[in-house]
Amino acid sequence: MQFTLITAPSFLAVLSTLLANVLAQDAEGWYKAHPGMSRISLVNQNTHQIVDEYNRTRFFHGTNVVMKEPPWYRPLEWVPGVSSFGEQDVQNMHDLGLNIVRLGHSWAGAEPVRGSYNQTFLDIMKEQTKMAEEHGIYVLVDVHQDCLAQQFCGHGVPDWFVKENWVPSSEMYPFPLKLTPFPVDGNGFPSPQSLCGTVDWSLSYTSVAIGNAFGRLYNNYDGLGDAFAAYWKKLASGYADTTNVVGYNLLNEPWVGDTWADPTLLVPGVADHKAMEGLWDRAVEQIRKVDNTTLIWFEGATLDVLSGFNNVPLGDGSKSVQSFHYYSPPQLGSISTTLNNRQKDSERLKTAGVLTELTFWMGDDKQMQGLTEAMTATDANMVSWIGWAYENLYDGTSGQPYPQLAKHYSRAYPAAIAGTPISFSFSEDTTTFKLQFKADPDIDAPTEIILPASTFPSGYNVQVSPEGSLVQYTLDKRTLALFTSSSIKSTTDISVIISSK
Ligand SMILES: *[C@@H]1O[C@H](CO)[C@@H](O)[C@H](O)[C@H]1NC(C)=O
Ligand SMILES: *[C@@H]1O[C@H](CO)[C@@H](O)[C@H](O)[C@H]1NC(C)=O
Ligand SMILES: *[C@@H]1O[C@H](CO)[C@@H](O)[C@H](O)[C@H]1NC(C)=O
Repeated sequence: MQFTLITAPSFLAVLSTLLANVLAQDAEGWYKAHPGMSRISLVNQNTHQIVDEYNRTRFFHGTNVVMKEPPWYRPLEWVPGVSSFGEQDVQNMHDLGLNIVRLGHSWAGAEPVRGSYNQTFLDIMKEQTKMAEEHGIYVLVDVHQDCLAQQFCGHGVPDWFVKENWVPSSEMYPFPLKLTPFPVDGNGFPSPQSLCGTVDWSLSYTSVAIGNAFGRLYNNYDGLGDAFAAYWKKLASGYADTTNVVGYNLLNEPWVGDTWADPTLLVPGVADHKAMEGLWDRAVEQIRKVDNTTLIWFEGATLDVLSGFNNVPLGDGSKSVQSFHYYSPPQLGSISTTLNNRQKDSERLKTAGVLTELTFWMGDDKQMQGLTEAMTATDANMVSWIGWAYENLYDGTSGQPYPQLAKHYSRAYPAAIAGTPISFSFSEDTTTFKLQFKADPDIDAPTEIILPASTFPSGYNVQVSPEGSLVQYTLDKRTLALFTSSSIKSTTDISVIISSK
């Protein structure tokens, strides 16, 4: 009896070690033993990269899906030329090689009456999120806003949020962009709606009314910050156990606050700690009551050069990601400058950064050249990106994707690296992908390279150095898995070159 009791566990330990070694070389076996997507909920604070449950470094290429008006979600049915988010769309994203979608979860759609959530709406959002999971696509849950409210020709907060008496009637929206405020309808929305087209939306953040409303959100006036935090708790309680949710993007492009009451908020870096940091902490405190796992993705002032946060939300950089955008304007320098600055932020704040919006629509030669540069720069800086936006990929008339955009979406990239990345690149001209990384023999999960079929129509050749250090396995028609060979016993520099046949 004694004998059995003592030896059974050690026998099991030996067996499981043996099994692990076998599985490391048995690709099919590994995938059978680890079905589904890997959970992603940690940042490596030395490399400033996101890692998954197997400690693989993860990279993302994806697109934005945000519905900015009622019913606040994209329809499920695919109609060519009409923007949707259903089975066909996630299949399209999969075929393009994308592995993430930043999916708008409108507060206005979720809480039409203060304190009472619309479960029907939340269920639809969850259904769309699960649908993405079935196609191997991660979801960044994004509470989106632009100009905050329908009262300001924008969207984001529910209609009950803004009160008509918050600013004197002579200073209502869009004063002072127009010296006479817009007439409004019974809901307080500018009427006729066509008036909204007469002001520049990005400049309207400087209006008295929008600044005032943002100030009240940050100052928790009448519990509005608490209401925002409570909405996040509601979302997190629905998503805590959802494998493909890669993060909670607290608020899209937050304005700096009430610059009319406090002009110092316009000084670069000030609003991040003075206005936003408190609200982010307030929201994350609520999220963490129901979900200790999911990464918190936070944005700072859109105009910032360097981040002005003292701390990431609740101060834990291993559980957060800085979510930032690049557009020119407002960013004045090149995308490389922005990526370098965000890297400095990541080092100071001990977190990671992801480019969650960049120009990904058809434009003049200069704009298209900028997109080409962005693709090279994000690889060179090893930064994940999410283009703005999915619907812009398609020609609204024919319903076909624009080839000039599709080719950028369909790049080769390392979705998972079983070790520490040194560098990677993809040349659209020569269809050549290169990766160098330090393989970690403690990781038995494979490196996974996305090689979209449309980019490699006749297949590809793979060169690995040192020879035999990686065992190849074709997981699906877009994914090449590379298992670190069991002959690798210590950290080893490996280089991979993949070119089209
Ligand atoms: C993950 O990998 C890094 C090296 O890339 C190592 O320092 C760290 O200890 C690993 N973490 C775990 C949990 O194995
Ligand atoms: C809740 O959402 C559903 C789906 O969009 C919508 O049909 C319904 O009208 C909403 N209910 C309220 C009270 O807004
Ligand atoms: C998260 O962690 C905190 C601190 O350890 C704990 O108080 C809280 O109950 C945890 N929440 C969940 C949902 O596990």
